[in-house]
Amino acid sequence: MGATGTAAGARSGTLPVMTAEDREATRAYYDEFGDAEWNRLVGDVAGRVSLEVHRRFLARFVQPGARVLEVGAGPGRFTTELAALGATVVVTDISPVQLGLNERYVGSTEAEAAVERRELLDVCDVSRFAEGEFDAVLAYGGPLSYAFEETEAALRGLLRITARGGVVVGSVMSMLGTWRYQLPGVVKVAAAFGEEANDRVLATGDLRHLAGSAHVCQMFRAGGFADLVSAAGGRTLAMSASNWASLGDPDVLADLEADPDRWTRFLEHEVAACAEPGAADGGTHILFAAEHA
Ligand SMILES: C[S@@+](CC[C@H](N)C(=O)[O-])C[C@H]1O[C@@H](n2cnc3c(N)ncnc32)[C@H](O)[C@@H]1O
Repeated sequence: MGATGTAAGARSGTLPVMTAEDREATRAYYDEFGDAEWNRLVGDVAGRVSLEVHRRFLARFVQPGARVLEVGAGPGRFTTELAALGATVVVTDISPVQLGLNERYVGSTEAEAAVERRELLDVCDVSRFAEGEFDAVLAYGGPLSYAFEETEAALRGLLRITARGGVVVGSVMSMLGTWRYQLPGVVKVAAAFGEEANDRVLATGDLRHLAGSAHVCQMFRAGGFADLVSAAGGRTLAMSASNWASLGDPDVLADLEADPDRWTRFLEHEVAACAEPGAADGGTHILFAAEHA
């Protein structure tokens, strides 16, 4: 079943439609989330592995000298990585607070030399940019998980501004992996919002079925997301889960991380496992690289 399937019923029985309020709620959520976003990928072992999986995936597709549009850049974990890969970056985000944090965290480092400029941008509207003006577009950490019904159009827009031979790299929230990893929370959600609402979320990945929920986003199935890439005129070059074994027992992972040799080996196995086709839906996020079809 496609990731954005249309399960019967949604907010109070109507089908979900992307509204200006949804967009404003996302901006407000990330404005308020603020500095916590800077710590998301370093605060625990799973986060640190996720950072490594995303970092290595990115390095496969960005060449030195590339001009990159970073969408939903947040405070700049991957702005810094793009700079280290020798790219120049137009840094963008829908949240002015996140853009300010990007300036704060990246601005005081040597990575700042790679930043062309910073500006507010909604992933759903890249009309200000010229066709093929970037060698690559990066949308890590889920800006495309907030485009809802506009995801296919947003992907088409990102491909339009990417040069022929260039690549769109991103990551979105995974429905099946999140369900597995967050099962205790999902059971609580079903109790709070009702089993039917929970059925709709599992069928569609759309958290807007949880009416009144503080944070809503679209989760995807890998196959459904690849279908959206195709519909947008793209071809999926690669996919990867984030994470796989590192979503397991935190105590075991802490022991592994404390031993540099075992940790290096574990990371190699983990990154390879995440890239297996059979693992694509198994993590909390799905990474993708797409080119023009
Ligand atoms: C989870 S953070 C990821 C930050 C960074 N890319 C990373 O991976 O560490 C998601 C970011 O996407 C931004 N965002 C959410 N919806 C967006 C949209 N419609 N257009 C552009 N950015 C968006 C948020 O403001 C936030 O900074």
